[in-house]
Amino acid sequence: MGNITITNHPLIQHKLTMLRDKNTGSKEFRSLVSEISMLMCYEATRDLTLKEVEIETPLAFVKAKVISGKKQAFIPILRAGLGMVEGLLALVPSARVGHIGIYRDPETLLPVEYYCKLPADLDDREVIVLDPMLATGGSAIEAITQIKKHNPKSIKFMGIIAAPEGLNALAKAHPDVDIFLAALDEKLNDHSYIIPGLGDAGDRIFGTK
Ligand code: PRP
Ligand code: URA
Repeated sequence: MGNITITNHPLIQHKLTMLRDKNTGSKEFRSLVSEISMLMCYEATRDLTLKEVEIETPLAFVKAKVISGKKQAFIPILRAGLGMVEGLLALVPSARVGHIGIYRDPETLLPVEYYCKLPADLDDREVIVLDPMLATGGSAIEAITQIKKHNPKSIKFMGIIAAPEGLNALAKAHPDVDIFLAALDEKLNDHSYIIPGLGDAGDRIFGTK
């Protein structure tokens, strides 16, 4: 099974509480999603490989480390994953961005794919799939199944809140994928919404309800 990391840094916990609050409006919600994603990026990129270069400070020559050029791709699951992209790009501006559009059918709760545009050289890249909500896990599992067809070097999943049901399903379906979360909540309700969760992430980011 892949590694599961729940990053409960105080800054993330504080921002997550504000994100969950139903009185938080879309503008602040978007900023919080972006900030939490940026903080989580620190953990998700911990294993990037480094190489040594020689540079000159104003006082001396020194051998120092830089990231060794492994290429990254961030792939948000539309819609809500879009809210996470900016925070990650702020730290890794050279990453390419792919998009995969999937919604959950309200009746069957099964994932429906409607869009997919990925970087052409995905087989040369390490991928981080982004979606703030991991509920039944159906959307993330389907997205990763599609992405694997392009043979990326590795795949990680970064979410903000997961239900135990979704986390177990994703870990079982894709045991080679490392999973990064900010919180593991209690359960799903009868409509497969995460409890306590934060409601519908897409609607809250884009103000559609
Ligand atoms: C939400 C969320 C995930 C999915 C999680 O998207 O952003 O993609 O639900 O649920 P699952 O784990 O049970 O698949 P939604 O289906 O509401 O689509 P939207 O972002 O287009 O509104
Ligand atoms: N999608 C969401 O946006 N929120 C949930 O709680 C479950 C699925």
